[in-house]
Formats: sequence, C-alpha cells, structure tokens
Amino acid sequence: MTDLTSFVRGLPKAELHLHIEGSLEPELMVRLAERNGVSIPFGSVEEVRAAYSFTKLQDFLDIYYQGANVLREQRDFHDLAAAYFDRAAADGVVHAEIFFDPQTHTDRGIRFATVIEGLLSAMAEAEDKHGLTSKLILCFLRHLDEDAAFATLEAAEPWLDRIAGVGLDSSEVGHPPEKFARVFAKARDKGLKIVAHAGEEGPPEYVHQALEILKIDRLDHGNRSLEDPVLTAHLARTGMTLTVCPLSNLKLCVIDDMTQHPIDRMLRTGLRATINSDDPAYFGGYVVDNYLAAAEARGLDRDDIVTLARNSFLGSFLDDETVAAHCARLDAYVAANA
Ligand code: ADE
Ligand code: ZN
Repeated sequence: MTDLTSFVRGLPKAELHLHIEGSLEPELMVRLAERNGVSIPFGSVEEVRAAYSFTKLQDFLDIYYQGANVLREQRDFHDLAAAYFDRAAADGVVHAEIFFDPQTHTDRGIRFATVIEGLLSAMAEAEDKHGLTSKLILCFLRHLDEDAAFATLEAAEPWLDRIAGVGLDSSEVGHPPEKFARVFAKARDKGLKIVAHAGEEGPPEYVHQALEILKIDRLDHGNRSLEDPVLTAHLARTGMTLTVCPLSNLKLCVIDDMTQHPIDRMLRTGLRATINSDDPAYFGGYVVDNYLAAAEARGLDRDDIVTLARNSFLGSFLDDETVAAHCARLDAYVAANA
C-alpha cells in the first residue's frame, strides 16, 4: 500500500452518495439468485462483471434494475447492506447516508416493510460492529410519475422517524425536478431533508429547479452546474454540498477520461464538494478508490483530500455537535499523520 493509499484509507470520512442497490456485488447477486430461485441472464460472476460496460446512465440503470431482482426477502436486504458497511468501514467511513429505491422493489411485489426492516437491521449491526453510524434517504424514481412517488411516501409513513430525507434518482434527462414539486413539498412539510440528483446528465436548468422548486439541502452530482458561472457562484456562496462521484462519472461517460474530472475546479471555485462511490459494485470501486482515482488524475494534494473528507462531515445531516466531533477526530488524524 502506498503512503497516500494508507493515509486516505485511515482518514475518517462520511459517505453521502451511495445507492444500496448499487453495492450489490456480482458474487452476492449470484448467491441470492440461487438462494431465492431467481433466474438471472448470467451464467457466472465473470459474465455479470463483463456486462458492466456503459456509455450513458440509462445503459447502467437497465442492468441495475435487473440486478435488484434477486433481492426478495428481508435477510437479502440485510445481507446487501451488511456487505456494504463492512467495505465502507474498511475504507475509513465512520458515517454513511445511504439511498434506497423502494419502488424498484414494491413494483415487483416486495413489501416496503421487507426492504426497510432488512436495511435497518444491518444499520444497527454496523454501529455495534464497526461504530459506523448511518442514515437512510428514500429516493423516488423520476422515470415514474408523481402519483407513484406520493404512494411511496405514504407507504413510508410508519418509518418516517427512521428516514432522514428523500431524494430523486434514475433517468434524469426528460424528467426534470419540477415534475415532483408537490411530493417534495409534502416531504418537506413532514420535516424530511431534501436531496436530488441534478446536473449529472441533465442541464444546469435542472440544478436551478432542484434548488428553487424542490428546495434541496444537498445536491447529488451537480457536475453540469459548472457550465453556469452564476449558478456555480450561488452554490459556493450558499455552502451547498455537492456529492461528487468520480468513478461513476467515468463509467457513465459524464467525462471521457479521469484527467478531465472537474473535482479540483470545484474546490478552487469554492464549492463544497465531497467524494462518494454512487454504485460501487457497478463502477469499479468504493470510496477510497474514488478519492485515489480523482487525486491521481487531477493532482490533488493532502490538503485537498482532507478538505474533501471535512466537507463530507459538514455536508452530512448529523447534528452540529456530532459534526464537530468528527472534524476534531479528522484533525487529530491529520496531525498524527503529517
Ligand atoms: N440510481 C443509481 N445510481 C444512479 C445515478 N448515478 N444516477 C441516477 N440514478 C441512479
Ligand atoms: Zn447516484
């Protein structure tokens, strides 16, 4: 392990953009397919991996929703999340705010309770086993209509005290944030935090809508905000956190090459950028791999890396006292490893 790799691995950090369904490794997919008697169009783990070649977001989403088919029982959701938390803990993640896509499961006849209870049990275990805390963010699928999102919010009602916020994911272009104005207003009224994927493939106008109509507390991806200098300056001035996902950007061809990644430009323009893994099983790496890929390609130094980790706590939905405690631990780590 290089010096930088071990420094980044040991650096306390939060992960703020992680789709739990996107952490389904091919090995677990094949095992769950067997366990549940679900047929998948792949004969082996190698065949699953070979299918992970994408030229745009939709290529990935088609295979991601197909993969989620093997998740049927509460223990499947538990095992999925437990595997993610083990890997995250090994990467120095001390807090994770994870997305789940209930509609991907309820539309296949899986009960909302099955999904969330499986996830919650793994979250409790991760805290005991690794000291890793976590929060849940319920994402609405934007390719479906707003009525379906309302039905999902209603299904979530008994668990709202264990859900930190709502988000918006899936196919971005053609499904602008304004399509979900009313359901996000209702979620806000219920005291939920608001996040949305915007400016991944979609134009800066979608970021404007996420800010002004959905009233987001955090912006997922946001890369294309940089095309609009006034928007960029606004995001910087208001301290909006961007959950940036370098390997995802590469695999989904948001950038052609990691050397073109805008992470350093984001930091230099004063944006509160963070580094995250998005769908690590599909994009070739967990959070440390994302830090290292971006650092190497864009020449980030240790100070930049520490800023990214600090931003992950500042941008989290933890209370101020807990954020301060995490930042103090981060400072102590940096001082001890100067
Ligand atoms: N669902 C899972 N990963 C996603 C991404 N990167 N963008 C939109 N929807 C997603
Ligand atoms: Zn995402």
